[in-house]
Amino acid sequence: MKILFVTPELAPWVKTGGLGDVSAALPPALRQAGADVRVLLPWYPALQQAFPNASAVAPVPPLGGLLPGALLRQAIAPDGTPLLLLDCPEYYARPSNPYLGPDGLDWPDNHLRFGLLSRVAAWLGSTDCPLDWQCDLLHCNDWQTGLAPAYLRYLPGARARTLITVHNLAFQGLFGQTALAALGLPPAAWSMVGVEYHGYLSFLKAGLQHADGIATVSPGYAREVQTPEEGMGLDGLLRHRRDSLLGILNGIDTKIWDPARDPHIPHPYDALHLEGKALNKSALQRELGLAEAPDRPLLGVVSRLTHQKGLDLLVTSASKILDLPVQLVVLGNGDKTLEQEFLALAKDHPGQVAVRIGFDEGLAHRIEAGADLFLMPSRFEPCGLNQMYSQRYGTPPLVRATGGLADTVTDCNPEAANGASGFVFQEARGADFLAAVERAVAAWRNKTLWRRLQLNGMTRDWSWHAPAREYLAYYARLLG
Ligand code: ADP
Ligand code: GLC
Repeated sequence: MKILFVTPELAPWVKTGGLGDVSAALPPALRQAGADVRVLLPWYPALQQAFPNASAVAPVPPLGGLLPGALLRQAIAPDGTPLLLLDCPEYYARPSNPYLGPDGLDWPDNHLRFGLLSRVAAWLGSTDCPLDWQCDLLHCNDWQTGLAPAYLRYLPGARARTLITVHNLAFQGLFGQTALAALGLPPAAWSMVGVEYHGYLSFLKAGLQHADGIATVSPGYAREVQTPEEGMGLDGLLRHRRDSLLGILNGIDTKIWDPARDPHIPHPYDALHLEGKALNKSALQRELGLAEAPDRPLLGVVSRLTHQKGLDLLVTSASKILDLPVQLVVLGNGDKTLEQEFLALAKDHPGQVAVRIGFDEGLAHRIEAGADLFLMPSRFEPCGLNQMYSQRYGTPPLVRATGGLADTVTDCNPEAANGASGFVFQEARGADFLAAVERAVAAWRNKTLWRRLQLNGMTRDWSWHAPAREYLAYYARLLG
């Protein structure tokens, strides 16, 4: 089975969130399970640096006038996964973030940049594919790749089948109608059963409409996206396509996220040697200028700071939470108001609250290892990786009951029985969040109970092993 995995991100080189992690870990897991997988993505500057000698494999023809002069290159990732790198300096040789310019705004030609990625994927899935490796199926991810199934539908020569995984329905890739011609799509595509969505061209809808199969990143999210409350306007289409919709829970890269072998943390530990965790806590307190207070639980956050993540609940309940008393560390960036509110909190509570605005992979690992409790009060969460990382690191997560969080965290009970590994609350309200934090802090003071919670999380299989098999079975079904 030959699978072309198409993605706009690939950790550790290009990562704005969980999609980067998934794109780095799922393809090798699929390969281990027996599939022949290659990954297609733009040759961003970070990938040019990582693979400066990526060899040219084929020139990309001016596909429907999208852009002449692109080149397909190939390289092999350190884990052995073959990469197909789309070399088009005009679109991709730009600094830092793959979607935003230095002004923090979307690049104005994002429709062309990700249109080209989608178009090249479709080309490789067509009878015109110039490679001796012909894929059977395109596995697309999120809106950035959503036009690929549409191109295969509207242009001649389609060969491969298609699957799109929805990592987040909130990002839909909406552009004005003039994008249709610029992207080389025929007028017939502009319809309710095509790429049109309330007067816009929607990359994501195009994918959901035309892919042979749809996956979401957790079973819970697969149910939620079919409801008007969580469907972000696409629930009708997703209900219509429910027979082709499957929720497959993400796994995690258990080599990179392994407290026994993590080069980012000063003191390795595992489920049988939890002493190391206390040392990581003191080291983190020192690193962040927090008081070294082993008798206070340290609450950790690593997150994009957006409405989705519900961290405004933490800001509004902060004074009561800090009085419990606890310490708090927040690493994140995004919404400027929220950034300012967290910075102000740190300023008002020196030694008790530390806030780092920015993206810092190493610190993210040290927070997972050094914190006692990990907070994820998300309003919605398609899967969420951090709550899985934290369970593997013996840091019970406190989450809202939504999407993949509800699928991966079992609420604490008096005995920490039945796999209980964290704390779950229901409504995105300050009072409910605060009550859950109070419950967690009380549980933390009960060392036997806490140890059980930690061990339940640390010993569960979070790997990609089982999810990769589910994807393989789904590919097989789509290939008939
Ligand atoms: P999402 O993809 O919605 O942002 P996930 O939980 O699936 O949420 O994945 C987020 C990923 O991004 C995790 O690997 C997390 O550690 C990482 N991350 C988020 N914010 C930061 C940050 N400020 N610094 C370092 N890593 C971050
Ligand atoms: C998205 C979602 C997150 C998920 C990640 C990887 O960014 O917001 O919940 O874990 O994709 O699938």
